[in-house]
Amino acid sequence: MIPVVEQSKSLALYIHWPWCLSKCPYCDFNSHALSPDLQDQSTYRRSILTDLKHFADQTKNRSISSIFFGGGTPSLMDPSTVAAIIEAADVQWGLEENCEITLEANPTSIEAAKFRNFRDAGINRTSVGIQALNDDDLQYLGREHSVEEALIALDIAAATFDRYTFDIIYARPNQGLAEWHDELEQVLKLTNGHVSLYQLTIEPGTTFFRTGVVEANPDLGADFFQLTSELTNEAGLPAYEISNHAKIGQESRHNLNYWQGGDYLGIGPGAHGRLTHDGKTSAYHQIANPLRWQNQVAAQGHGVAKTRVLSGQDRIEERILAGLRLSKGISRVDFAQQTGQDILTVVNAEDLAMLQDEGLAELNKTHLKVTTKGRLVLSAIIEKLLV
Ligand SMILES: C[S@@+](CC[C@H](N)C(=O)[O-])C[C@H]1O[C@@H](n2cnc3c(N)ncnc32)[C@H](O)[C@@H]1O
Ligand code: SF4
Repeated sequence: MIPVVEQSKSLALYIHWPWCLSKCPYCDFNSHALSPDLQDQSTYRRSILTDLKHFADQTKNRSISSIFFGGGTPSLMDPSTVAAIIEAADVQWGLEENCEITLEANPTSIEAAKFRNFRDAGINRTSVGIQALNDDDLQYLGREHSVEEALIALDIAAATFDRYTFDIIYARPNQGLAEWHDELEQVLKLTNGHVSLYQLTIEPGTTFFRTGVVEANPDLGADFFQLTSELTNEAGLPAYEISNHAKIGQESRHNLNYWQGGDYLGIGPGAHGRLTHDGKTSAYHQIANPLRWQNQVAAQGHGVAKTRVLSGQDRIEERILAGLRLSKGISRVDFAQQTGQDILTVVNAEDLAMLQDEGLAELNKTHLKVTTKGRLVLSAIIEKLLV
């Protein structure tokens, strides 16, 4: 057994804003249509600051390497609320130099008009939800913006923030490979170092699920993935994670921290976190329902629903599940330090040899990784390795 090494001092901080203008039919995130009685943000702001203080008191010796405002639609937040949260994080822990501070934004004109105020509040990176470069499809996806508005929002983002990225959903119903080829070429012209390209999934509980919309079948999905991989590689924006593409050095540092097994704090309804102390990693999640979460924060000073210490096996499985999403794969040194085990002693050796022979996985002195071909069947590979 290798001793588990204490995590670095750095913490990634996630802030969840659970409201949107309306609920998109494909979305199963913890997001809810904003009702008029929730327009006043003061209670939410107070609750976030209280919850943040609760975690700061337990992690006094740490510092913040990244903050991510996610949702929901955090661009509906009042910029003064964003400023107050960033300032509280600085006062409670201290922000590291070059701290990456991202805000997810929807590209309606009202939200884009607030980009300057968000920058003045401390945001230095934005992630804009463009989703499609086709007005009919935007309407089908239930979006509140047009392609024209989305392009204007991207221009404003480029002129306002140090870094921007945007999200696109592909393999949409009625979208063929040829249409995606043309759209992706347009997408790549709009990028500035980073883009997230998600294949549409149909999640239980969504309107698309209830109304019988279906995902691309696995063969077509594989063709979409292959095409995406080819065009993004040619454009110098290779995948560094299944759905995330970046030029070298432009990766989302906040998200890399999750996939590489670093500690993080989630503040807000439904958010979760991981904290390592004395060689043990604890996992917690917060109450998902926004109003119940606020009530508990008011009563108890935090919104945590449950905390548990991860067993050695839980930690190993988490590290493999998250780490193999990365194109670089899992660093064998980091894995040993985080789990106390050599990765070769915890994966199924026969299956690993077979996956290597089939060109689905690669093992070298420093990393275990899944190839581009293997990423198409990642869940099956993980199942094999973990038996
Ligand atoms: C937290 S969500 C949305 C952020 C922001 N509210 C927006 O809609 O632009 C992050 C991203 O996940 C992607 N996404 C959500 N549901 C999806 C689904 N069912 N299939 C594929 N991508 C999805 C969308 O691209 C979305 O921008
Ligand atoms: S996709 Fe974005 S805007 Fe649409 S419901 Fe989900 S979080 Fe809200």
